[in-house]
Amino acid sequence: MPPFYVVGNWKSHKRVTEAVSWFKEFESLWQKNPFNIQKLIVIICPAYIHLATFASLIQLSRIPIQLGLQDVSAYPSGAYTGEVSAEMVNGLVKFTLIGHSERRKFFKEEETELIEKVKQARQAQLEPIYCVQSEDMTIPQECKIVAYEPVWAIGTGHPDTSDNADQVASRLRQKHPRVTTVIYGGSVTPENVASYTQKAHIGGVLPGGASLEAHTFYRLLLNAART
Ligand code: PGA
Repeated sequence: MPPFYVVGNWKSHKRVTEAVSWFKEFESLWQKNPFNIQKLIVIICPAYIHLATFASLIQLSRIPIQLGLQDVSAYPSGAYTGEVSAEMVNGLVKFTLIGHSERRKFFKEEETELIEKVKQARQAQLEPIYCVQSEDMTIPQECKIVAYEPVWAIGTGHPDTSDNADQVASRLRQKHPRVTTVIYGGSVTPENVASYTQKAHIGGVLPGGASLEAHTFYRLLLNAART
């Protein structure tokens, strides 16, 4: 069985002090009761302001979590005021979400821009986690990891059923043979995560709200690793 991805998306939350407290709490939970690291690939996607601090905390504590971005610039390094290029975070993160439904909705991101983002990510050796909100959406060729996140399930407490998510994942894999992993996002919690880990075509989950408290996220990881 390949390891199961758990990708925590913090969105636009947490001051620096809150992020450090999260890490300290997570660290103490991990030290008391480590989850099975063979079974999980754990990725946290915090805001840019937390990346450098988190990278050093992870290095010092040797906790098996990796860092990802919530989004990446469609532009290279250069005169692009306000942007953070993929190259700038090289060495700090290994993954980046691209095309999250909130980016598409609030920032009007569309396919041409998303394709540029994927190119920039790849050039900087970041692995894109390409988000689609339905199975008929286009997926750029370079993407191997895809997140299926139906909009109506995000932040609503009404997740898609694991049966349906599994069928969507299976069809996505058939339609896009280069995609190796499909993860599911939308109201994933410690209580329901086990229903997704048991499915043949679901390779991970993308919790938002359930990643914001260290103890909730930790419980989610324990439940995911147990099944
Ligand atoms: P949620 O977010 O877990 O809070 O529903 C999921 C997502 O952003 O894909």
